[in-house]
Amino acid sequence: MVVLEARELTKCYLPSVPAVRDLSFCLTEGQVLGFVGPNGSGKSTTVKMLTGLLQPTHGQVLWCGAAIQRDLLQYRKRLGYVPEEIDLYPFLSGWEYLELVGTLRGLPRKSLTAKIDALLALFSLAPHRHSAVGSYSKGMRQRIALIAALLHDPSLLILDEPLSGLDVTSAMIVKHLIQTLAERGKAILYCSHVLEVVEKVCSHVIVLRKGRTLAYGHPAELMKSAGQSSLEHAFAHLVEGDDAPQASLASRFSPAGRLSFCAEDALP
Ligand SMILES: Nc1ncnc2c1ncn2[C@@H]1O[C@H](COP(=O)(O)OP(=O)(O)OP(=O)(O)O)[C@@H](O)[C@H]1O
Ligand SMILES: [Mg+2]
Repeated sequence: MVVLEARELTKCYLPSVPAVRDLSFCLTEGQVLGFVGPNGSGKSTTVKMLTGLLQPTHGQVLWCGAAIQRDLLQYRKRLGYVPEEIDLYPFLSGWEYLELVGTLRGLPRKSLTAKIDALLALFSLAPHRHSAVGSYSKGMRQRIALIAALLHDPSLLILDEPLSGLDVTSAMIVKHLIQTLAERGKAILYCSHVLEVVEKVCSHVIVLRKGRTLAYGHPAELMKSAGQSSLEHAFAHLVEGDDAPQASLASRFSPAGRLSFCAEDALP
């Protein structure tokens, strides 16, 4: 079942240059959609439109077939979101912050306490639960934000660079968690520069460049069509290659049909 749909999303901060242009995709239950692209390609702008934080200049975001603006409150109840830049109340402890989020989400006290304890333990934050969030490292704050996004058991998770600042162990936990949540039917949108992880955890990938969709398909198809053995190399071919290889790539992508590819975007 399609959970989230983006229809021709366009965002213009300035009149002349769209930050995101005509972006369309569908995300179904159990899918993990990776969003990759160079800095400034429009990933976070897309995420902000998908979460209802930014109004698209054109296009629509649909949740289970209805525009999210029709009932933004209900939509956000089903959404777990980890933003690119995390702001936490610095004087609250990790535990207090999560309790506040859970209470605002209307979660029953008993199950909330048990859930907070379990997630703090999973992310190795239990020993720090009574320290002020302002004293936490970047990776610790990132882990708190992830826990906060998971507390209400959302059906849709939108993660903007969730691994930034995480150590190896925490990054592995997050990767494993994404896979487990997808197996349980959650729809997940995952923005990242870590292509190695995207290749492993994502069922589909969208490559953005200058706000446009350069490619959209299964990671394996993308690699095969690009004649590359890793998503990292396929990405480099798509985004950073010379005109000639990119033009030939365009012709190789199109007949496959399952990957959409805009040849003009391959040009600098
Ligand atoms: N509030 C804003 N006002 C004007 N322009 C903006 C604003 N936010 C983003 N932009 C521009 O929109 C474009 C896309 O930015 P965005 O943050 O979506 O990229 P990104 O893919 O998330 O980049 P990164 O990988 O660095 O996180 C960039 O050119 C950026 O300068
Ligand atoms: Mg970003």
